[in-house]
Amino acid sequence: MTKAINIMKREHLSLNTVLHVLNQLVLDLEAGRLTADDVDYELFEKIMNYIEEFLDTMHHPKEDQYLFPALLKKTSESNDVIMQLQEQHQKGVEHRKKLEIHFQAMKDKHPGQVEKVIDALKDYLQAHREHMKLEDNVIIPLAERVLTPEDWAPIDEAFNQNEDPVFGDTPKNKFRKLLSDITFLAPAPIGLGGRRK
Ligand SMILES: [Fe+2]
Ligand SMILES: [Fe+2]
Repeated sequence: MTKAINIMKREHLSLNTVLHVLNQLVLDLEAGRLTADDVDYELFEKIMNYIEEFLDTMHHPKEDQYLFPALLKKTSESNDVIMQLQEQHQKGVEHRKKLEIHFQAMKDKHPGQVEKVIDALKDYLQAHREHMKLEDNVIIPLAERVLTPEDWAPIDEAFNQNEDPVFGDTPKNKFRKLLSDITFLAPAPIGLGGRRK
């Protein structure tokens, strides 16, 4: 397994943890175990921060700029899937912004916002699960099959920047800390937080 694939898979696992916390939030809001007053907005801000700075700024652009072009150059087999994934990367940013707007409105106690947050979260979760499934089950196996070590070199280098120790507070350490804060603040059974009834 190449370095880039290793890092990509690890990053997908981290994202899955965050999605799991959001899913728990949906379940709690839907069941009425959590109300707009009880939501841990600090936790949600950390999650949005993680998604914006890690997923939308570091992870997706590396796929768009390095992995996908290398595949498109090598084979036409994945053209449609890659087009779909690129669109999903763009829509993911819009989805996140929509979520933030509804969350802020819920925090400000605007009526009807809990339902809007639930719907926006469900859309977000479904889109990202499908997205990662396509990358894990279609794109990564295809890339492993058709790309040569020469093709992988720049992709490995790009993904490795996330882990570069030269800059002291490496992105890896920063996001690891943020992820551990998120899982710590998340309600049980995921973390130790929780204002559920
Ligand atoms: Fe992606
Ligand atoms: Fe990805």
